[in-house]
Amino acid sequence: MKPEERIIVALDVPDEQSAIALVDQLPQVGFWKVGLELFTSTGPRILELLKSRNKRIFLDLKFDDIPNTVAGACRSAARYGVDLLTIHTTCGRDALKAATEAAQSGAAQVGLKPPKLIAITLLTSISARQLAFDLKIPLELPEYILEMALLAKETGVDGAVCSPQEVAQLRDTCGNDFLLVCPGVRPIWADMGDQKRSLTPAQAMQAGADYLVIGRPITAASDPGLAWQSISEELTAIA
Ligand code: C5P
Repeated sequence: MKPEERIIVALDVPDEQSAIALVDQLPQVGFWKVGLELFTSTGPRILELLKSRNKRIFLDLKFDDIPNTVAGACRSAARYGVDLLTIHTTCGRDALKAATEAAQSGAAQVGLKPPKLIAITLLTSISARQLAFDLKIPLELPEYILEMALLAKETGVDGAVCSPQEVAQLRDTCGNDFLLVCPGVRPIWADMGDQKRSLTPAQAMQAGADYLVIGRPITAASDPGLAWQSISEELTAIA
């Protein structure tokens, strides 16, 4: 894979028109992340639009439900030919297994490659304090994240989303064939925005990330094309 193919740009816009404008403004971007806001606004039309432009898709809907329901959702998503798909580990072992099988069978039904299923171990908006006092989970936060990543791996899930601080440890624990998708990275020249403990794209890759999810450093740059090129060059330099 070329270094720039590891960059996933977050299509964090509210509607179809703004999504198309951004995708057409950045023809060099080959991989887009569609999240809850855009998908809820456009429905699967956005997936068809991206596929018709030969883009790869990270469908980040963070499924969390009973086994039968997450399986159905994964089967449906797989039929659109998305490349990455997210699911919460909190839906449990049976649902994670059912999701993996359904993603494969959904893709097979339409003769497509199955999506890689990516686990959400713990939302980064949850602090150590909230984990203990609100969610009543009696584990330290890093340990909880590792346990959830191992559960995902055991059930056949292909990888996990993780913050830049977690990449190195998850890579060590989960091995090289477990995909690590890392948002919250910031090039040295970019605004931190609301991301607090970030790494640069090169640092995150060197720590073991497979894919980087980058939004505002590219999409809100005064010249988004130039921002994308600069990140690609940063990754090429360490490849
Ligand atoms: O604009 P920015 O680069 O911060 O966008 C990062 C993308 O990754 C956003 O879509 C955000 O919701 C997502 N994300 C994140 N941090 C996480 C998980 C997801 O920033 N821990």
